[in-house]
Amino acid sequence: MLRITINSVLSSLVGCTALFLNCSIAHSAETLTTAEIHTRTLAASCAACHGTNGNSHSTTPVLANLDATHFIAQMQAFKNNSRSSTVMHHHAAGLNNNEIEQLAHYFSQQKRITSPALQPQVLETIHE
Ligand code: HEC
Repeated sequence: MLRITINSVLSSLVGCTALFLNCSIAHSAETLTTAEIHTRTLAASCAACHGTNGNSHSTTPVLANLDATHFIAQMQAFKNNSRSSTVMHHHAAGLNNNEIEQLAHYFSQQKRITSPALQPQVLETIHE
């Protein structure tokens, strides 16, 4: 009887440990390299204008799921001033070729999220 109790305690402990192991495996499913962290940090600096993960909901171009070759060509054009821009020449100038390629790859992998055009809303006041 005692043995069964110990066994069941043990097996539930093992179960817990396995559960925690599973949890930690699930959480570490995406292990980033230092280079990937660097790319994501750079990408975060683009989010103020281009939206989270490049999903702009304003007039700023969407970067999510953008073709990497197009992305690189635009960034190089901003850098060498062959494409005129309001702000992008400044942002592109601070990036080296490797960073531009990594960002191109990163944004090309992001899912594009479309949003319906925002409609004007009529606010109704109800006085009771
Ligand atoms: C201050 C706002 C702002 C920030 C920050 C910013 N961008 Fe831009 N981006 C723009 C605007 C506005 C345009 C349109 C061109 C222009 O007027 O400069 C643009 C255009 C682009 C384009 C061209 C898209 C196309 O299809 O033609 C790319 C690529 C791009 N940005 C990448 C980036 C990356 C990468 C970063 C971060 C390192 C970044 N941008 C940060 C505002 C911004």
